[in-house]
Amino acid sequence: MAGSDSANVTQEALGGPAGPCTMVIFGAGGDLTKRLLIPAIYNLAAGRLLPEHFAIVGVSIEPFTTEQFREQATKDIHQFATCAVQDESWNWFVKRIYYACGDFHDANLYVKLKDTLGQTEKEQGTQGNCLFYLATSPEFFPVVVQQLGAAGLTEQEDEKWKRVVIEKPFGHDLPSAIALNKTVRAALEEKQVYRIDHYLGKETVQNILAFRFANGIFEPVWNRRYVDHVQVTVAEQLGVEQRGGYYETAGALRDMVPNHIFQLITLCAMEPPISFEADAVHDEQSKILRAIQPFSPETAFSQAVRGQYGEGTIDGMQVAGYRSEPRVAPNSQTPTYVALALHIDNWRWAGVPFYLRTGKRMARRATQVVIRFRRPPFVLFRKTHVEKLAPNEIVINIQPDEGISLNFEAKVPGPVVRLGAVNMKFEYSDYFGSTPQTGYETLIYDCMMGDPTLFQRADMVEASWTVVQPILDAWRATPAGDFPNYGAGSWGPEGANELLRRDGREWRDPTIDNATHYDASPASDNK
Ligand code: BG6
Repeated sequence: MAGSDSANVTQEALGGPAGPCTMVIFGAGGDLTKRLLIPAIYNLAAGRLLPEHFAIVGVSIEPFTTEQFREQATKDIHQFATCAVQDESWNWFVKRIYYACGDFHDANLYVKLKDTLGQTEKEQGTQGNCLFYLATSPEFFPVVVQQLGAAGLTEQEDEKWKRVVIEKPFGHDLPSAIALNKTVRAALEEKQVYRIDHYLGKETVQNILAFRFANGIFEPVWNRRYVDHVQVTVAEQLGVEQRGGYYETAGALRDMVPNHIFQLITLCAMEPPISFEADAVHDEQSKILRAIQPFSPETAFSQAVRGQYGEGTIDGMQVAGYRSEPRVAPNSQTPTYVALALHIDNWRWAGVPFYLRTGKRMARRATQVVIRFRRPPFVLFRKTHVEKLAPNEIVINIQPDEGISLNFEAKVPGPVVRLGAVNMKFEYSDYFGSTPQTGYETLIYDCMMGDPTLFQRADMVEASWTVVQPILDAWRATPAGDFPNYGAGSWGPEGANELLRRDGREWRDPTIDNATHYDASPASDNK
């Protein structure tokens, strides 16, 4: 096993090392592999969570030899590792890297791959277990899956397991997601498929389940009797960078909502599962997705807001508008921002709106879930301005700060009765130190262990696309007349504020920390 250096991912935190296997990475020459996958697998190695009998086979069109690929990986790990690279661990790791070059469409590649897998089995003792990771662009997903099936590489005989990890985006809309599921299921059993969503690799996202179901005090108030509404904000400060080509075909709704944001919403809204077995958790998530009130052609406009950033200023720097980004059309209709008001038609949530928003080039990077509670039934503090009473809220900070806070009212010290908003705050780093990881460690480890809980089942993917499809249709049919409609560095278009304002609510500013923002000014009629 790997060297004994301290690692961020530890055996104590997870189980023991995974069993013998080879991980085959299609798209081994790409950014995802070098920036995230190899550093994540290295962290697993350093944390002693990889098996002794382990190998990686990189597959891509680039004409590397195994030796050259190892050299490249060694250069890359020093650039992208999330912690100091220890020679002992890396030497252990790099010896287990192999490479197969070829065109994903070409059946010969899979013959070659079979040979390489035979080699890893012989040299590293990987026992014929195989994890195929599709870190390619999405057009290759069906191609690779079909070819793997045709070459017999996905057959699980003699207890040798074969699993396939498929990256996002899983489909482009509902029909393409259904078609992809069909292709995948023709070559694989559902239990062999791991549809990855990297948000589920984030500790704070997984912690939503622990917070709700490992504690007795929150669940009793986690429902329509006590919750006024829920807000989910996923704000990015970055623009589309060099990904204009992809983003033009996707846009904010496809890119973030049916995957990352719906994961957050299902974890917050689902009923307690009967166990933490994958199917039990997925069943409950799936029920939430199917309970989301369908959008009609009308509500696709009244309950959904789209935006596109124009030029603006971020942290004092002037930045370009979306239409001036590389590989973006000068009259692009692609939304870089979306806000939705969702309703979940079940007993727990009837009448409680779930507002979500996500956008690029916003004022700050902040991902946050806010559970806003109803106000007290009447105002006991009659001489305190009622509008000054801040409602209680639980704020789950996903990133960049990781933690949870409970915001409530307290008496401001002094002879005059005044109330101020304060908070109780838990920060991950205070308790657990900082854990610089890629976010992929747990997910890759779970695939090796055969635990699909943090992955998406076919029906969940389709249910998610079913929710957003009417909005995609409505937006395609009616171009936005007002793009660009928000400035880079702002919090999005005015329409998104209006979406909440007409319900008598407003977006919570994700940068505000209640503890430092109580209103200490005396109200004139207080006594
Ligand atoms: C990806 C999207 O899935 O998630 C990107 O394609 C987005 O556009 C990214 O920037 C956000 O992930 P994170 O982990 O930075 O919040």
